Amino acid sequence: MEKFTGSFTQQEPIPEAGVAAALAVMQHGRLHRYNTVGDEIAEAALLEEEFASVTGAAYCLALASGGYAMTTALRACGIGHGDKVLTNAFTLAPVPGAIAAVGAEPVFVGVTQDLVIDLDDLAAKLDQADTLLLSHMRGHICDMRQLMALCDAAGVTVIEDCAHTMGATWDGVPSGRWGRFGCFSTQTYKHINSGEGGLLISDDATGMARAIMLSGSYMLFDKHRAAPPPETFATIKYETPNISGRMDNLRAAVLRPQLAGLDRQCRRWNERYAVLQDGLRDTPGLVLPTRPPEEGFVASSFQFLLLDWPAEAVTLVLKRCKDRGVELKWFGGAEPSGFTSRYDSWRYAQSAPMPASDRILAGIIDIRLPLTFSLDDCTLIARIIRSEVSAVWQSC
Ligand SMILES: Cc1ncc(COP(=O)(O)O)c(C=O)c1O
Repeated sequence: MEKFTGSFTQQEPIPEAGVAAALAVMQHGRLHRYNTVGDEIAEAALLEEEFASVTGAAYCLALASGGYAMTTALRACGIGHGDKVLTNAFTLAPVPGAIAAVGAEPVFVGVTQDLVIDLDDLAAKLDQADTLLLSHMRGHICDMRQLMALCDAAGVTVIEDCAHTMGATWDGVPSGRWGRFGCFSTQTYKHINSGEGGLLISDDATGMARAIMLSGSYMLFDKHRAAPPPETFATIKYETPNISGRMDNLRAAVLRPQLAGLDRQCRRWNERYAVLQDGLRDTPGLVLPTRPPEEGFVASSFQFLLLDWPAEAVTLVLKRCKDRGVELKWFGGAEPSGFTSRYDSWRYAQSAPMPASDRILAGIIDIRLPLTFSLDDCTLIARIIRSEVSAVWQSC
């Protein structure tokens, strides 16, 4: 019986240019972003400038994590204790966690079979909050024109969680450019890798000035380049607390060459996705989410649904695949495990039952697609999943 022996958590090494740049930072010792000599420009400031240029944003701020980028965006929008924030029921723990971190409460919005936020459910709940923290979970992007029209009409501010959509677009517009803020992660499993890290983008001068002060700029905001002009900080610098969460020059140095190679990496992810998709198409009992032509996705992971399957049958598929070296994650498990949890696992946040979303979540199977997998690896993985899903489907 065929077995897969690769690792689902092994990313590619940092490119040589990133290793060399990191070494240079370590050799000169000026790791703190504000520790520069003469007219030297810090790696963190250069990264911000480059990411702003790649996304077309006016401003960019490099931060300690994607989660910190989200809390900073929420704080910069004035969200605090007791406020309610709409967010996806299908997302990962750092998203409701960011809402809880500012003392606010999530209001969960359902998920569709195509794994995007349910716009009908959103429309029904828009009167419950002034802000939506929209998670483009696992890279699935909803109809952004429709979502923005709904939110604009209701006066709801949109903050985008783009942890899984760096390099992606909807209708040609980069993810993170629709809302007031776009929040990105550079944690190891994301599209560029500095171990931990985050990037925040915006066109809103006041909001970004607040974010820079929040991140801990020690009044050194004039050392930023992709930042609003110093006069924007005139009163904000007195009014905004320092909640340190800056990115350092070492991480920025590691990231800059990866950002330069992002387009190529996105293409490579999508080649792998296409192979898996082709291999799993028309498997009885297995549903693939539809991806509309406007969605310029970056598939660093792959999802399918075993919709309405009994839990024991899904568990059996997971076990049989695992025995053949293919690690699948399931959003329908009774207990949150590893990186996988569900809105009803976050007991600090109240949630009303969402039966339609529960049905979808109970069927979602998730696979990481690291670029260390070859196209042949993906063909083999698809073959293994197809045969195990088919075997269990026929026996149920
Ligand atoms: C959907 C989603 N949003 C945000 C984040 C936050 O990223 P970080 O780990 O950098 O805080 C993650 C990280 O796993 C995530 O999966």
